[in-house]
Amino acid sequence: MSDLSKTLILLLLFALLLDLDAFELRKGQKTERISGSAGDVLEDDPVGRLKVFVYELPSKYNKKILQKDPRCLNHMFAAEIYMHRFLLSSPVRTLNPEEADWFYTPVYTTCDLTPNGLPLPFKSPRMMRSAIQLISSNWPYWNRTEGADHFFIVPHDFGACFHYQEEKAIERGILPLLQRATLVQTFGQKNHVCLKEGSITVPPYAPPQKMQSHLIPPSVPRSIFVYFRGLFYDVGNDPEGGYYARGARAAVWENFKDNPLFDISTEHPTTYYEDMQRAVFCLCPLGWAPWSPRLVEAVIFGCIPVIIADDIVLPFADAIPWEDIGVYVDEKDVPNLDTILTSIPTEVILRKQRLLANPSMKQAMLFPHPAQPGDAFHQILNGLARKLPHDKSVYLRKGEKVLNWTAGPLADLKPW
Ligand SMILES: *[C@@H]1O[C@H](CO)[C@@H](O)[C@H](O)[C@H]1NC(C)=O
Ligand SMILES: *[C@@H]1O[C@H](CO)[C@@H](O)[C@H](O)[C@H]1NC(C)=O
Repeated sequence: MSDLSKTLILLLLFALLLDLDAFELRKGQKTERISGSAGDVLEDDPVGRLKVFVYELPSKYNKKILQKDPRCLNHMFAAEIYMHRFLLSSPVRTLNPEEADWFYTPVYTTCDLTPNGLPLPFKSPRMMRSAIQLISSNWPYWNRTEGADHFFIVPHDFGACFHYQEEKAIERGILPLLQRATLVQTFGQKNHVCLKEGSITVPPYAPPQKMQSHLIPPSVPRSIFVYFRGLFYDVGNDPEGGYYARGARAAVWENFKDNPLFDISTEHPTTYYEDMQRAVFCLCPLGWAPWSPRLVEAVIFGCIPVIIADDIVLPFADAIPWEDIGVYVDEKDVPNLDTILTSIPTEVILRKQRLLANPSMKQAMLFPHPAQPGDAFHQILNGLARKLPHDKSVYLRKGEKVLNWTAGPLADLKPW
């Protein structure tokens, strides 16, 4: 059979499949709950299960930085700002630190963007160190545990390693003063020095209102088989190739640029969000980091995420059944992507689409204003609540010290 006729047959099958989907929708079986832990966890209610004390810091650690660059509010790392705002008015907040289970230090370490909007976390370690110095000298709670009952939002590419290049991030490792704290971060990759055990992996921030305003009727057929917009190569930062996305994006382009089932390009159209709603599969390959906002967008727009990032740790993986809603493809298998995706049985695709249509799945990916039950804020609180009660080892003996305040690169020790 020629390639063209194969493709035609596929497209035909595909049209049939869409029809089936529309039929299912009409029958009102739009969503499906997963029975068992995954489905239930999504409905956890953290209120009443934990109390959080929010340190009051001078505004130079948070509000002033934001005033200088309001772009930080729409950046993919904006969770550090919205989580702060959320906690200030959350019912889990306590004004009495004596009864707190968790302590939160509101520092906006990633709100430092270049004119092009790239966040370069060069000042973050000094800023973080300065904030910790401040809370540890003004309140007794840090010294009691050296941070083991404190959590920090560190959404940058490589979390609290505070560097945008992976090699440098690995070399730096997690900031020594954060060794004992719980880190809430976007970066998630198994067996990586920048992902500490017990961290909470969260989605990147994607603007909820903006996505909402691009919704199209669910009855519009998904006539694109595979969709992707973004870089395949990063010539500026990786001139010889192979380092960016570990070559996975380049492999997508080289193998499928002429395949009619693949709607892939570097051009970012104004209909990007609508296109995702017209696609069955949305590629979510690693870039410099294992994740990208595409992951959130795919879930919001009901497009099955095709996750190409070996060893990725996905956001709220204990609450969201990623295996059921997405497709995982090993980086080395990218050349077979067409065969892998076309051989997924129709009923499996339909089930994934029904699960993705579940509003709670979408809610968990978003940091909305005002906050809503089951949203990403609540998932973070659930993660913190599940770590309670603290183990006795959290509390240090009188005079016991674990952290080394002079460890790390000398430049990080300069005052901020
Ligand atoms: C916490 O310990 C540091 C030294 O390790 C000390 O300088 C600081 O005063 C202590 N904080 C409080 C509130 O006692
Ligand atoms: C703390 O770190 C510094 C710098 O790496 C090192 O020279 C020093 O010996 C360390 N102190 C302790 C007590 O381990």
